[in-house]
Amino acid sequence: MYKALAGKQLHSTQLATARGNLWEGAVRSSKTISSIMVWLRYVRTGPAGPLLMVGKTERTLKRNIIDPLIEMVGPKRCVYKVGAGEVVLLGRTIYVAGANDEKASEKIKGLTLAGAYMDEVTTYPESFFAMLGTRLSIPGAQWFGTTNPEGPNHWLLKTYLSRARLHVRRDGSVVESRDPAAIDLHRFSFSLDDNPFLPADYVAALKLEYQGLFYRRYVLGEWCLAEGIVYDMWDEARHIVDIVPAVDRWMCVGIDYGTVNPLSALLVGAGADGRLYVASEYRHDSRTARRQLTDAAYSEAFRDWLGSYEHGGTRGVTPQWIFVDPSAASFMTQLWADGVPGVAKAQNDVLDGIRSVGVALGSNVLSVHRSCKGLLSEIGSYAWDPKAAERGEDKPLKIDDHSADALRYALHSTAHEWRGLIRPKLEVAA
Ligand SMILES: Nc1ncnc2c1ncn2[C@@H]1O[C@H](COP(=O)(O)OP(=O)(O)OP(=O)(O)O)[C@@H](O)[C@H]1O
Ligand SMILES: [Mg+2]
Repeated sequence: MYKALAGKQLHSTQLATARGNLWEGAVRSSKTISSIMVWLRYVRTGPAGPLLMVGKTERTLKRNIIDPLIEMVGPKRCVYKVGAGEVVLLGRTIYVAGANDEKASEKIKGLTLAGAYMDEVTTYPESFFAMLGTRLSIPGAQWFGTTNPEGPNHWLLKTYLSRARLHVRRDGSVVESRDPAAIDLHRFSFSLDDNPFLPADYVAALKLEYQGLFYRRYVLGEWCLAEGIVYDMWDEARHIVDIVPAVDRWMCVGIDYGTVNPLSALLVGAGADGRLYVASEYRHDSRTARRQLTDAAYSEAFRDWLGSYEHGGTRGVTPQWIFVDPSAASFMTQLWADGVPGVAKAQNDVLDGIRSVGVALGSNVLSVHRSCKGLLSEIGSYAWDPKAAERGEDKPLKIDDHSADALRYALHSTAHEWRGLIRPKLEVAA
């Protein structure tokens, strides 16, 4: 099932001789496979002493690394002991830990290690990574890690990767640093081309799956800044419609709640043509209306809006779900009290939500009706926060983002329902 490593995969395994060795770059570019091969070799031939495997959490480590290891070497030679926090690999007991699990990092503080494997290094607290470095104190100890790129101000790039002694770049060229302050670290930058085992249609699907910022980071493998317009794939000519065609199902409403700030609600339908439509918007801005509404008044206005929406010769819609800004507990309670069906808390992971909206726009699955004025006024100027990016964080500016948030709630909370509309489907033979 696994074929011999080729090209940069093989090259990186030969060059993984530094104290620290990090594979970074595009998704699915074979960073994990290459680094696991080196780790298996290290487990067999590295110095004696305790070893550690780390993930963002123990659960993600199991899914990303331990399961593939079991597949690779067989269930007899890789035994995961969940409760004990250990894995026995090729007869050697290895501690496992999640960098973000409070207890696990406590446990590591006292260890003296002969080696470590680290998955998803950018997701660790910097203090955890630094502490782990001090624990690798047995002579000859090495660590091996993988990560996808983040912003250029991320601690891992600034403090460590940019000072690596050896760098195999995305184009394959090898740069050796003469800087005396260089760190004993070898850095391997991978792009999708470095994985010769990905079918062309899978690569095409991946490119649809990541849009805007996420395309540059996860497909091209760039450590680029979250800057400028968030939805840079937004195109009025392509995404605005004057007519909403036949709708099979009124999938949901997404609501961003505000009393001083505007409240925005967006109605989303799944069209008979296999596309999604933001068909109508309810928006109340207390500043322009010079009137703040109570939750009861909002609920009434909201129900009036849905009850009077006309489409295909009928009046009134009952969407399957009403996804509400999770911080608007009192408004949610009001909707429940008023008997509105399908009210639920929206999924509020901002970056994942932006990714969902970006995928829908970029793969041309989503259109917005011209009447949705609030959304149309915001979506093209919704921008990343430059101050946050300076600190190495990715988040959008909290300005004119009300309908943009409502759209994120609607699409991200239903992503599992509509992802199948995007073809070709993301399936790859292992
Ligand atoms: N030598 C190989 N033999 C067989 N399949 C391979 C080989 N190298 C890579 N692949 C295939 O490529 C896929 C992606 O590789 P891998 O999981 O190592 O990527 P990655 O860079 O770690 O991706 P991510 O950033 O998503 O974690 C694997 O699931 C596997 O199917
Ligand atoms: Mg991986």
